[in-house]
Amino acid sequence: MCGIVGYVGFRPALDVVVAGLKRLEYRGYDSAGVAVLADGGLATAKRAGKLVNLDKALAEAPLPGGTVGLGHTRWATHGAPNDANAHPHLDNAGRVAVVHNGIIENFAALRAELAGRGHALASETDTEVVSHLLAEAFSACGDLAEAMRQVCRRLDGAFTLVAVHADEPGVVVGARRNSPLVVGVGDGEAFLASDVAAFIDHTREAVELGQDQVVEARRDGVTVTTFDGAPGEVRNFHVDWDASAAEKGGYASFMLKEIAEQPKAVADTLLGRIDEAGTLVLDEVRIPAETLREAEKVVIVACGTAFHAALIAKYAIEHWTRMPCEVELASEFRYRDPILDQRTLVVAISQSGETMDTLMALRHAREQGARVLAICNTNGSTIPRESDAVLYTHAGPEVAVASTKAFLTQLVACYLVALYLGQVRGTKWGDEIRDVVRELSGVPARLERVLETMEPVRELARTLADKRTVLFLGRHVGYPVALEGALKLKELAYMHAEGFAAGELKHGPIALVERDLPVVVVVPSPRGRSVLHGKIVSNIQEIRARGARTVVIAEEGDESVVPYADHLVRIPATPTLLQPLVATVPLQVFACELATARGNEVDQPRNLAKSVTVE
Ligand code: G6P
Repeated sequence: MCGIVGYVGFRPALDVVVAGLKRLEYRGYDSAGVAVLADGGLATAKRAGKLVNLDKALAEAPLPGGTVGLGHTRWATHGAPNDANAHPHLDNAGRVAVVHNGIIENFAALRAELAGRGHALASETDTEVVSHLLAEAFSACGDLAEAMRQVCRRLDGAFTLVAVHADEPGVVVGARRNSPLVVGVGDGEAFLASDVAAFIDHTREAVELGQDQVVEARRDGVTVTTFDGAPGEVRNFHVDWDASAAEKGGYASFMLKEIAEQPKAVADTLLGRIDEAGTLVLDEVRIPAETLREAEKVVIVACGTAFHAALIAKYAIEHWTRMPCEVELASEFRYRDPILDQRTLVVAISQSGETMDTLMALRHAREQGARVLAICNTNGSTIPRESDAVLYTHAGPEVAVASTKAFLTQLVACYLVALYLGQVRGTKWGDEIRDVVRELSGVPARLERVLETMEPVRELARTLADKRTVLFLGRHVGYPVALEGALKLKELAYMHAEGFAAGELKHGPIALVERDLPVVVVVPSPRGRSVLHGKIVSNIQEIRARGARTVVIAEEGDESVVPYADHLVRIPATPTLLQPLVATVPLQVFACELATARGNEVDQPRNLAKSVTVE
């Protein structure tokens, strides 16, 4: 939450910062602001609302040019999303500017303390205390990095901070605790940002900061220390995607682009993970095979869409490995006092690698002695860094707030983990693994087919734009798919949407069915688990008999559903356990189109942010 950019170099800082903020707007879009060091002072501009409001203000009243600056795009926590609460925040003399992501938990005490010393605070934010404390510390020591270290030692909570001071031009200082900050290192310039997307146009060389570190960026390099001033350990990495991956590339929205990229994202996530003999080689899983063999259960923690991937993974893990697998919302996990020990394998799934609840869950698990394997899409992020091992999904940057391609790649990664456990523990024969892998390798082509046949789904979505409610039903792995279909519609179209296990229909949800209510039903393959299939066909008849308008997602060649489908969406035949990979796509397209028909902006739904770095 909140996007942060800092720059020191030779380019016009304002251009670099505003372009960076555009790339980070997915993190929050309640307000935006910038500050530039120029003419011996500090020039700032900030506006409530999306970045475009700030752009307009800057066009009307340009700031003086300078080559050191910072900027912020906000997801509001403390204080309403108005101009006064927008970042950057200054001290009373207007010499220091600070941007912040996270929550400073002891801000009320610090605020009272500052007020007692005569400081006048102009906003309701927790952030503003930092600018005042920094100004005080700087006037005593004359060194912004040292001032930042002193201030950070006084802060409780989670934060990324970036600051500049007019009396130390040529320096941008950043700090992080439990909140993301990456450093981009160019030739004669340096960038601080929440995410590499902010500086990918200028450099692909990045530095991952550790926990509780301060970075001092100058034109000729960066220095990293701990909050106590000791040299900080960092990891350098090369970003393996380029600027074009962070652009819309001709699509009307990032979401449409990301939906279209799914075949490639799935193929890339499979790449290099199977050797010529068909054996899985998950090099990144550094947890010893012995530990995996001895593990007694798997616990998966995740939030949002990643949680739905986890629910699907449970079916594969239990079926293929015969290990018990629990799935839990990361936000609930540690409060339940879960039973964990050295024989528990915890899998943390997160696209961003920054979701605070997931991070806290994995920390709790590690404290209890469990091994943690992260499934993550973002190199340089906190969750993989704090895990014992990581399996990266290679979806490329996902910008639209609602997750699409990351979800499919999370599923692929979960299937790989399940098969790998089966391989290591000997519950799956080599040829069985090869069969599943062959099926997985065929998924990108099936996804292409699904994407080519989506026009009727879009047409249907447009006709349903004025509905108040849509229900989604599924059984077995189709149940989490139904949950995901409903979540997509809620977050994008702001409609009442609910997903149910079809077997639960008669225990309540069927009371919601009334004439013309759209009900989307995900039908499992008739091959294999025919009992499942038969049951859901009965469910479709039951809701249709009560007037529902049925939208049936069924495998090609499944004729048994035809008489009961008001709208039939065909997906390519896929083994039941893998079917979510193809069945989810029409639901994404449906939600995206319906939201667009309602005039909503699909990339940035109201009240949401992509990277939820507060609990
Ligand atoms: C937010 C996003 C969702 C995402 C969830 C978990 O709510 O809007 O799309 O599924 O966070 O994010 P993560 O980065 O941990 O996968």
